[in-house]
Amino acid sequence: MSQKSIMEYETVALDDDNSALEIIDQTKLPGETRLISLHTGKEIWDAIYLLKVRGAPAIGVAAAFGMYLLAKQIKEQDFELFYQAFLQQKEYLNSARPTAVNLSWALNRMDKVCIENREKPVEQIKELLRAESVAMKEEDIQVCKAIGEYGLTLVKPGDGILTHCNAGQLATCKYGTATAPIYLGQERGYHFRVYADETRPLLQGARLTAYELYASGVDVTLLCDNMSATVMRNGWVNAVFVGCDRVAANGDTANKIGTSVVATVAKRYHVPVYICAPTSTIDMNTLTGEDIVIEQRPAHEVTQMWYEKPMAPEGVKVFNPAFDVTDHDLIAGIVTEYGIAREPYTESLREIFAKKNSTD
Ligand code: MRU
Repeated sequence: MSQKSIMEYETVALDDDNSALEIIDQTKLPGETRLISLHTGKEIWDAIYLLKVRGAPAIGVAAAFGMYLLAKQIKEQDFELFYQAFLQQKEYLNSARPTAVNLSWALNRMDKVCIENREKPVEQIKELLRAESVAMKEEDIQVCKAIGEYGLTLVKPGDGILTHCNAGQLATCKYGTATAPIYLGQERGYHFRVYADETRPLLQGARLTAYELYASGVDVTLLCDNMSATVMRNGWVNAVFVGCDRVAANGDTANKIGTSVVATVAKRYHVPVYICAPTSTIDMNTLTGEDIVIEQRPAHEVTQMWYEKPMAPEGVKVFNPAFDVTDHDLIAGIVTEYGIAREPYTESLREIFAKKNSTD
């Protein structure tokens, strides 16, 4: 019997029958594909904080489903009392991770549903919250596909593409963002050569990106994080595609720690760096990278997580920021579902949003 491919699983799903949020526990990949059902605020918060579900768009959709399920559990029928309890749960979920703006973006969309329908019976508001969360998942799939189409115009058959962390299907509801051009190219016979950075300390590149690309038949080569200069110097890389957790209004971009190193090296070797960014990840209220809050993670992720034994002396000081900021001048383009923004980003990102507002 053939085994089910990781690509056939849903990263995030709403299980109506059991009033649960169902996710793949990504901390178990690639060894084991374990689906877990989450019901309580604490279970959902933990799953986001512990990276059982991770990647900005997937976090957003998981939070939206989670918020609907938590709202459903609120017994109050008076709107003000219902809304007070809603806001408490919203703030709690929002505290799970600070950098990925999709978390607050998704929760704010859910909040807006409550506010705009405050005159309606609470039970009806709950149904509208369900519809909004389901719409967000469907939108995510369409958005990733559109990013893939725009991204594909930036490369040609046979090209080498380097990526960092996992901005793949496992970070979204389908296609991924940085991987969307790769998957669309794969369907169209582009034969890309993909280089996946392992991405210390949590190895999203090795455990997730290499896994999903390999399972999809993509020609993928796994690299340690310190090898990007070598492959670029060898001339093997034509473009870098990465995802992002928050893009500031001036184009500065927060993504997984190490992205700015890759971008700096890429500049040295004249390799263009493209940030694949759904508009849900672009935060026009954050003016520059200086204003982006960078999540700090616990030391044990660096010293011993994923290893049988600690790999560092006990008690040593550890610096473990989850993300870094790539300065906008290192970025050749920001690929959104509404087109590709180029320098100066302060203007081009505004145009992207104008296009979005005129079509929505
Ligand atoms: O800590 P993670 O695994 O959530 O970090 C994920 C990334 O940095 C991704 O590149 C980013 O969220 C974009 S996912 C489309």
